[in-house]
This record gives sequence, C-alpha cells and structure tokens, in this order.
Amino acid sequence: MNISKRVARKILTAAAPLLLASGAQAATAPSYLGQIPGGDVAQIKSIVANTCSACHGAHGNSLMAQYPNLAGQNQSYLIKQLENFHTGARTNQIMQAMVATIPPANFAADVKDLAYYFSQQKLNPKINANATDPKTTLKVLTLGEHIYRSGMPASGIPACMACHEADGMGNGPMAIPRLAGQHEQYVFTQLEQFSDGQRSNDPHSMMRMIASKLTKNQMTAVAFYVQSLNPGLVLGDGPKNYEQMKTRRNQTPLIGVPADQVASKNAKPTPAKTPQL
Ligand code: HEC
Ligand code: HEC
Repeated sequence: MNISKRVARKILTAAAPLLLASGAQAATAPSYLGQIPGGDVAQIKSIVANTCSACHGAHGNSLMAQYPNLAGQNQSYLIKQLENFHTGARTNQIMQAMVATIPPANFAADVKDLAYYFSQQKLNPKINANATDPKTTLKVLTLGEHIYRSGMPASGIPACMACHEADGMGNGPMAIPRLAGQHEQYVFTQLEQFSDGQRSNDPHSMMRMIASKLTKNQMTAVAFYVQSLNPGLVLGDGPKNYEQMKTRRNQTPLIGVPADQVASKNAKPTPAKTPQL
C-alpha cells in the first residue's frame, strides 16, 4: 500500500462514525447512477458509496460545512478540480489522498462519470437550514449582496456575478463554479486560501487577485450571501435572516442594477455606495 492509500484509509476510518450517523443515506446506493452515459455504473457506484459519501454525502449534500456540497455543481468544474488534485495543481491532503484511491486504469473516464453523477444531483434546499450563526445578520447579508452584485470598484473588486452569474449557478462551459447554496464555511476558507496563495489553481490568478483585496469581514459577508442563494430554500425553511433577505430580494432584488434588468442574467452591475459593516 503506498503512502497516499494509507492516508486515505486513515481518513476514511476517522470519517466512519459520520458515515454511520448518516445511516441509510450512505448505505443505499444512489439512484441516479444508471443515467451515466456509457459509464461503468458499478465502478462509480462503489467509489461514491465507499469513498466520497463519507464526507460529501451519497448525493453530494455534505452534512459538515467544511466539506463542499457537490450536488448540482457544474460537471466541467468538478472534472477540473479532480484533475487538479490529481496533478497537485490544487493541494489538499485529504482530497489528494481521496483522488489517489480512484483506480488509475480508467481514471479519466471515472473522473468524468463521478463529476457527471454529482452534477446531476439536487442540492437539498434545507442543507443550510440550521446555519443560525449569529453573525448572519441582515446587515452582513446586505454587504455580501452588494459585493456579489456590484463589486467594490474603489478597491478594484469586480462583481462576483460577472463570472459566477446573477443566480450564483456559475458557468459550465467556462468551468466557473456554482456558489449558490454552498456552505459559508467552505466558501470563506477558499477565499482565504486564494487570498494567501495557498490555492493557486485559478486560471490567470483571477480568484487570487480578487480575494487578496477582500477583508475578512467582506469574505464572511459574501460567503453568507452565496450560501443564502439556495434556489430551493422556501420561506420558513431557512434561518430567519435568510428569510428576511429573501423577502427583501423579492422587493428590491438587486443592488445597483436597474429593475428592468433584474431578470436578465447578463445584467451589468453599476457602482453603488458600499454599505459599511
Ligand atoms: C474524508 C473526507 C472526504 C472524502 C471521503 C472525499 N472528500 Fe472531496 N473534499 C473534502 C474536502 C475537505 C474538500 C475541500 C478541499 C479544500 O479545502 O481544498 C473536498 C473537495 C472536493 C472537491 C472540490 C469541490 C469544489 O467545490 O471545489 C471535489 C470535486 C471533491 N471533493 C470530490 C470528491 C470525490 C469525487 C470523492 C470520492 C472519490 C471525495 N471528494 C471524497 C473531503 C473529502
Ligand atoms: C473573472 C471571473 C471571476 C470573478 C469576477 C469572480 N470569480 Fe470566483 N472563480 C472564478 C473561477 C474561474 C473559479 C474556478 C477556479 C478554479 O479553476 O479552480 C472561481 C472560484 C471561486 C471559488 C471557489 C469555489 C469552490 O467550489 O471551491 C469561490 C469561493 C469564488 N470563486 C468566489 C468568488 C467571489 C466571492 C467573487 C467576488 C468577490 C468572485 N468569485 C469573483 C472566476 C471568477
């Protein structure tokens, strides 16, 4: 057994109680597997059930906020990340060990199928329903919304939605990730890692340049905002502040964007006064 396999086994053993806690979810084989076009269904089924589900959930809805949700993420982006962990272009001890457990014989095809599988899963709208962090005030969400939609031109920060789209669903053909409904804790960690260069797999340093200009408060705010952008979240399901945000969003959906452009994904943000935190 090589080193990374040993690390992988150790990590999985540590994650076992979590697997048991999520019980039926991990034990039952995910039901969409038959739809993988031309894929080795049995192989993917076993990789998801035996490895990935321990942390990301059998359907890509992760129960712990430090593990990213994979459900509904763009396939192209997932493929790129798995390849980046494989080559070491993106470093993370846990994930590099996990990717090393994918048999090399059919690596490229398995990665494509795993990414397809997770991209087709539905993000559970209640995944962050218990995210009642007291920091999630409406004021924080409002600052986050402002950064996301209008950027902060004075600090050289572009609107996140220019690339991640107004609804936070990202851009498949460009391998830009969906942020909508992603765990705040994970999003914050990634922004911190881009900011100090620990994560450096972003093409043309685009995320490193942006994140290095954000303060920790601004990172927190925008992370909470994207977590609240869960399209399935209905009033009454989420934390109170998300509900207030959603109500407000329905009334004044975009900051700095004329109301007649709100429905358009290509709505161009216009500078507006930055709210203070
Ligand atoms: C022991 C826990 C664990 C297991 C098991 C695990 N992962 Fe992960 N995964 C993580 C962590 C932690 C991260 C975040 C890494 C970072 O911070 O860079 C992650 C990140 C990812 C990402 C990047 C997501 C993004 O939004 O950028 C993908 C894709 C991924 N995992 C796929 C998988 C697949 C496929 C498997 C099964 C082969 C798997 N993971 C198994 C913990 C795990
Ligand atoms: C110029 C386009 C562009 C802009 C503007 C942009 N991003 Fe990104 N972002 C990307 C790309 C491309 C990636 C994927 C990098 C990679 O390949 O790993 C990314 C990745 C991320 C990730 C990692 C997601 C994950 O699942 O690991 C986060 C978080 C993120 N961006 C947040 C933001 C925030 C917040 C803003 C606004 C302050 C922003 N981005 C603005 C292009 C952009």
